[in-house]
Formats: sequence, structure tokens, C-alpha cells
Amino acid sequence: DKGGWSSFMAKEITEQPEAVANTVRGRVSAGTVEIPELAALGAERLQTIDRVIIIGCGTASYAGMIGAYAIEQWARIPVEVQLSHEFRYRDPVLTDRTMVISVSQSGETMDTLMAVKYAIEHGAVTVSVCNSQSATIPRESDAAVYTHAGPEVAVASTKAFTAQITALYLIGLHLGRVRGTIDAQTQADAVQQFELLPEKLREAVESHDQIAQLAHWMADSRSVLFLGRHVGYPTALEGALKLKEIAYIHAEGFAAGELKHGPIALIDHGQPVFVLVPSPRTAPLMHSKVVSNIQEIRARGARVIAVVEKGDTSVLPYADDVIRLPLADVFFEPLLQVIPLQWFALELSTAKGLDVDQPRNLAKSVTVE
Ligand code: F6R
Repeated sequence: DKGGWSSFMAKEITEQPEAVANTVRGRVSAGTVEIPELAALGAERLQTIDRVIIIGCGTASYAGMIGAYAIEQWARIPVEVQLSHEFRYRDPVLTDRTMVISVSQSGETMDTLMAVKYAIEHGAVTVSVCNSQSATIPRESDAAVYTHAGPEVAVASTKAFTAQITALYLIGLHLGRVRGTIDAQTQADAVQQFELLPEKLREAVESHDQIAQLAHWMADSRSVLFLGRHVGYPTALEGALKLKEIAYIHAEGFAAGELKHGPIALIDHGQPVFVLVPSPRTAPLMHSKVVSNIQEIRARGARVIAVVEKGDTSVLPYADDVIRLPLADVFFEPLLQVIPLQWFALELSTAKGLDVDQPRNLAKSVTVE
């Protein structure tokens, strides 16, 4: 049941405030994060972890990339992210001190399941971040951290993505607390961000009308680029994937700093570029770097669509369109920034008369390797 929406994807985009609230529920209290499923592994075991590898495919891998920044920051453990289908072919170094966190909405993705089995055979601690209750991957893993985002029907993942990021952040905060690597204030600040998130997500969902207009003018775009820095980089990758997947438009995401190392040659007159601008309040250095990136591409004729936090006027002279989002700490920005990108893919797909929920050549759950 689409609940009055034109597609499951539209419905699921709008469900993100509740999805994320459901991921957090029962896992925070009195300013601290406690995930019962992780606690069950025993604090000692969590304290001995010296390396985290996050695995997943597609959107799940981008959630993993975003989660990696936060887990490394909060738990002070080196974190790397690998595509599930690449993981075992590199003969990864795994010990009983390695935690392998798999991210999968369906919990049935064969590439990820095979990677998890490989990790189990090699003695790693396995944690599953999964949305579908009692799927194979969480059953095989040492611990299952369900996202509780509710069923996701559209092939293009939306609410599962924001819920996955949330779950990974909770894991980072739990590990940080158990390992004594974050102070009570940092923990309490993050918990507060989680509490404010549903309302901010609701506001971000309201970017729909502005995005619909933008998409209307851009319906015949042949290529769209997405730029971001830090956690904005995987968010850019996710924006590009959504567009490829459901609007069949060539799209690429780049780390903003990488532009001058090659991709800037792609910038030609009228090339649409979405730029995810970090907050000037909480990330002033990154912000100024991204603003210079905008100036560089604008000078070469790009059509710049800047996604900024409300009140950031620094990009106004260089942006053709500005999408304003509520204020949030750096780690929480991707959760908001991805929403206009999801709407954009949906609106371009609709403008091209395509089936938003059932894109060609794709299945919701990829159960072959
Ligand atoms: C993107 C998308 C795919 C999945 C990927 C992993 O919108 O749907 O990229 O994210 O196939 O699927 P799960 O999370 O079920 O393992």
C-alpha cells in the first residue's frame, strides 16, 4: 500500500523521520548509547577490538563509508570499508580482534553473506546492521543490530540508508563509551542530535517542491555530478547512484578535493553539479575549501546546485540554485543532505516517464554472487 503516494519510493522518503527514530529507540537513555545486542558480546571483547572492517554493496557500502568516519572518530579504532564482493579476494588480514560489520537492508545479499561467512571462518567478530527481521546475514552473525526502518519496497534504497547510518553511529558511540574513548559530553551531544533529528528530517523532506521544479528544468540532463567532502563524499556517491538507478542518467560522485586531480576536465558550460556544502559553523575549514571548489567549477561554466545549511550565504554569489537544510553537526549532515538528492532522482525518473519503484535490470535483493 503506497498510502496515497505516487510510488513506494516517495512514501519511503517521507518515512525517514520515523525510520530513524525507530533505529534509535531503546538504544539511548540519559545521554548515553547502549545497544543491548552489542552489550551481549561482552565489554571485554569490545575492548580488545583493534580494527573494524565495514562491508556492504551499493547504498549499504556508502552508509558504511559514512559510518566509518564516525566510528573511527568516537571509538578510536582504525576503520576501513570494503565492497563485499571485493573483500575475500584480497585475502584480508582477520583476527579475533577484528570486528567485521556488514551492512545490508535485505540481509540476503549473496555477496555480503559470502563475505560474512568468510569473516566468521577467519575468526572475526561479526556484527550485522540489517533491516529485514530474521534474514540470513543477521542470523549468521555474532550480533544483529536491526535498523527497524520498516519494510522498504522500492528498489532504490532510501529510508534504509539513513537508518543504516544511524545504526552505525550508535555502534560507534557504544564502542566509544565501552572503550573510554569519548567523554560524557560528546556522547550527550550526539544523543541530543539524535533526538532533534526526526524534526530536521521532516524539514528536509519539505525540500520536495523546490527539487521538483529544479528537476522539471533538468529533465533532459545527460550527466549530473555530485561533490562532497568528508561525510559529504559518500553522500555524493549515493546521490549519483540514485540517479543512475532510477532515472538512467549518467552521474558521478566525487570527493571535492579530487576535482583538480582530473575530473575538473569534465566541467563544461551548463554541466549540472550538486555540491554538498559542510556547515560553516561546525566545519569552517572544510566549508571554505568547498566554497573554493564551487568557485573553480563555476568559473568553468558549471551549473551549481548548492546544498547548504540555512543561513549560509557564502555560496549565494556562485550558485545557480540553493537548497537550504536545517542546522546539524557535521556527522548528521548526510542524513539531511541525502533527502533532496533522493527527491531529485525520483523527480527526474518521473519526468522521464519511468517506473520509479521498479527500474530496469534491477531487483530489490541480489541473491546471486
Ligand atoms: C541502491 C540499492 C542497492 C542496494 C545493494 C545492497 O538503491 O538498492 O545498491 O543498496 O544492492 O542491498 P542490501 O542492503 O539489501 O544488501
